[in-house]
Amino acid sequence: MKQVLGFDVYGTLIDTHGVITLLETMIGESAPRFSMAWREKQLEYTFRRGLMGRYRNFGICTRDALEHTARSLGHSLTETQKEELITAYGTLPAFPDAVAGLEAVKATGQAMHAFSNGQLHAVDRVLVNAGIRDYFGDTVSVDTVGTFKPSPQTYRHFMDSTGCGPGNAWLVSSNGFDVIGAAAMGMNTIWIRRDDRLVLDPWEFRPTAVLDSLERIVEVIGV
Ligand code: LAC
Repeated sequence: MKQVLGFDVYGTLIDTHGVITLLETMIGESAPRFSMAWREKQLEYTFRRGLMGRYRNFGICTRDALEHTARSLGHSLTETQKEELITAYGTLPAFPDAVAGLEAVKATGQAMHAFSNGQLHAVDRVLVNAGIRDYFGDTVSVDTVGTFKPSPQTYRHFMDSTGCGPGNAWLVSSNGFDVIGAAAMGMNTIWIRRDDRLVLDPWEFRPTAVLDSLERIVEVIGV
């Protein structure tokens, strides 16, 4: 049976901390801490909006999180700087292992899709800019169902729109909450753990495999 792989985008294929160099020109050595806080707040907003049933798209969550991070860390960024940072979000780089990993999976002939909290146009743009859009068929966005990962609806939407089921559906993600969300829906999951200090939540859901690089996916999908 053909396997259908959904690749998470931000944090898995695309490095959200690619904004650090630009941030450094604005706030100096606080840039890494700012970037980390921005990403955490962005995800927190998706979780909270999901729970409240008050969906607003990922781009809005990203903007709101930027605003909150700047204020809470005491950096008064100008509107132009904020715009530059949001624009930079569309040109974030792929992780160094992405091309080789995607190339290897592509050679197996399995179906590959980008599957993200981001809106379709934003995801496609960042993948094009990072030079990896062509590895994927249709992009699947949670925007279509109006809620965020790890809502069960998002994984159901992935399986429905790509024509697969728990037996042959795979989620590849570096985001632990995403892996657990997909595993809870019966999908096969690969947790990409590039940093061995990361710990998965000790819940009742486990990934099918844990790999330190996208380059090793082919070892797991076994073709
Ligand atoms: C995504 C998130 C998890 O791309 O950042 O879906």
